[in-house]
Amino acid sequence: MIDQEAESGEHLRDGLEPDVYPVPEGRWQRLKRTEIWRSVFRHPQLDTPRGRALQGFSNVFLHIYPVKVPRRVLRLRYSWRLGYIAAVLFTILVVTGVYLMFFYTPSVTSAYGDMQQLRTGIGFGQLVRNVHRWSAHLMVLVVVLHLVRVFFAGAYKRPRQFNWVIGIGLFAITLGFSFTGYLLPWDQLSYWAVTVGTNLVSYVPLFGGVLTDVLIGGPQIGQATLLRFYALHVAVLPVAIALLLMVHIWRVRKDGFAVRRGGVGAFAEGATDRANSDVADPSATGTITTAALPAATALALESGDRVRLLGVVDRESVTAEERLTDDTVFAWPHLIVRHVVVGLGTIATVLALGVAFAAPLRDIANPNLTPEPAKAPWYFVGLQELLSHFDPLVAGIFVPAGVLLTLTFLPYFDHNPATESKYRRVAISIFATILVIALVLTVIGALFRGPGWKFVPPWQHSYLEM
Ligand code: HEM
Repeated sequence: MIDQEAESGEHLRDGLEPDVYPVPEGRWQRLKRTEIWRSVFRHPQLDTPRGRALQGFSNVFLHIYPVKVPRRVLRLRYSWRLGYIAAVLFTILVVTGVYLMFFYTPSVTSAYGDMQQLRTGIGFGQLVRNVHRWSAHLMVLVVVLHLVRVFFAGAYKRPRQFNWVIGIGLFAITLGFSFTGYLLPWDQLSYWAVTVGTNLVSYVPLFGGVLTDVLIGGPQIGQATLLRFYALHVAVLPVAIALLLMVHIWRVRKDGFAVRRGGVGAFAEGATDRANSDVADPSATGTITTAALPAATALALESGDRVRLLGVVDRESVTAEERLTDDTVFAWPHLIVRHVVVGLGTIATVLALGVAFAAPLRDIANPNLTPEPAKAPWYFVGLQELLSHFDPLVAGIFVPAGVLLTLTFLPYFDHNPATESKYRRVAISIFATILVIALVLTVIGALFRGPGWKFVPPWQHSYLEM
């Protein structure tokens, strides 16, 4: 119907659009009116409320976004765009990772040689590897910051409890990605960092032996481990993260953005659904007539700037809406342009890091030569530091498992509905204390530990391994 409208210019005359658009002329416009073009882009690019809504509904990529978002979502301090930056980093990792896969064989006899070859013999090989590595480090950091931001904003509370749990899954998978990738270069750094990391697993009560066997596939890290880590890194974890991300981002929309809504009250739950469902103009919902809604989902094109998706809601939920102050803006261009800028900034950052700092490649892995110190990857080095003070079962298993489980179920035992920090002093104090302890342990382990895990100030000698 819309296509026919476009063909005939009906959409310009039907009273729904301001009649200010000239009838398309010129080669470019003619191209846009060809059948091929219109079979791909189903709706003309009209810069009107209805045009923007139709493009959003009919484009799979834009459909990730709600047609309209609460104005406060545009503010940087709503999310610092951290979730979005994590998603961009993940995309960069997929693209660079596929390029690296062209030149890498997961075999102990060739993996290290492949890495050397990437450095010298393959176009952009070194740069792509550097960018991949920096994006991985940054992704761990950004996901942690995103988690911290969500906590301090109280955005894990009803109705977003389950999305927080999914987030914890994403966090675990992100660590899994980094850890399994660490082994692939098969140099001394990767071999021993993974040895230290996997040693922890052996302390798991009852199942430690079995888990170590499954992960390592033998008495020590070798060919079986490399193959398993590779399979996890390029197949299992990507599928897992894709599934969880799909649900995560879908739920961000359906649960509603955790922002205050103008005229609705603090973190309104029902209201967020309205603003983020496929209803383009929530302020007008009270005016929908109850006359026979179509059984199938259909676009309701009405006068003015109202565009709705009907047919998936029951009659009561449509008619019982109260009238809200409209505090929403169109995702296109307001939010999407901001995302494009942040995305380009993220790409520029990892490119700059990749050009400036090369990914390390030490000597080939040697199981008989333990480097001093043998450090875990930086995000596990806090745990390694803790292990140097306490019993491995406590420091390596009980503490991390306790923290992870507490974090996972946090939304279900924190029944305080308040999101402002002044009403959440206890929760914030506990969380902040754990965060500071983790940070201090990580900084000490990464920067202040040398051979024999002795204290060495970084200004004397740096043993930081990235
Ligand atoms: C691969 C990792 C992750 C990606 C790509 C990701 C992506 C996103 C995106 C794009 C958003 C929308 C708003 C924003 O930018 O903040 C979001 C929101 C959210 N994320 Fe994540 N996320 C990840 C990990 C996590 C983790 C580790 C948690 C917490 C345990 C979490 C919990 C949440 C919650 C509760 C929201 C809704 C918050 C709100 O509406 O303000 N996410 N995430």
